[in-house]
Amino acid sequence: MLEANGLASWFKEEQQKTENWYLASSNPYQQSGWGSTPARWRCVREVILTAVNKNGSFLDVGCANGLLLESLIQWASEQKIQLIPYGIDISSRLIELACQRLPDFTNNFAIANALYWRSTTQYDFIHTLLEYVPSQLHSDYIQQLFNTVKQGGRLIISSYSNRSRQQQTFDVVQYLKQLGYPVAGNASTQEEDGWILTRVAWIEKR
Ligand SMILES: C[S@@+](CC[C@H](N)C(=O)[O-])C[C@H]1O[C@@H](n2cnc3c(N)ncnc32)[C@H](O)[C@@H]1O
Repeated sequence: MLEANGLASWFKEEQQKTENWYLASSNPYQQSGWGSTPARWRCVREVILTAVNKNGSFLDVGCANGLLLESLIQWASEQKIQLIPYGIDISSRLIELACQRLPDFTNNFAIANALYWRSTTQYDFIHTLLEYVPSQLHSDYIQQLFNTVKQGGRLIISSYSNRSRQQQTFDVVQYLKQLGYPVAGNASTQEEDGWILTRVAWIEKR
């Protein structure tokens, strides 16, 4: 699985599955992997802002069509927090859409595989999901992204559930602790019946 050819095909298959679904529609929510309503989108994604405690640069790793960035900028501004969006994605077609969505920030987007991407700059906030890389590489992946966080900044890791597929979130806090990372904070959002929609945890660079 972890030899170079195996990894390359793993990424290729994941990218293919993503593009087949995301790009099958011009609906911006679907182009970010979201199959429900805008109101529910806010319900499941706004919790990420719990980790955002100041103005600054916000890099979304796996930014798809940039909808999460656009939404977070809007929701943060309602709290008088100004975010500058940055994004990378493995799919050139999704990065193209992200640039169309956020035309004032086209220089802030790049096509890249998050596992191999190395940045020359650092960011106040970096957000990612862990499913972008095989689990054996999670620890290295987190460390590499953490290196790219500015002093006083945060690496934010989310896990989303998918109720129709009965896929639960994973316990991000416990997972990070097991990998040896000190968790600075966490948040979650849930349905009325207790089904957890999103879990978020973050590590801070002090
Ligand atoms: C579920 S969407 C996330 C969109 C948004 N960040 C959010 O949290 O709502 C996942 C995105 O990650 C991208 N992605 C998956 N694996 C990646 C990798 N190894 N490197 C960069 N992008 C990746 C996919 O192309 C897809 O656009």
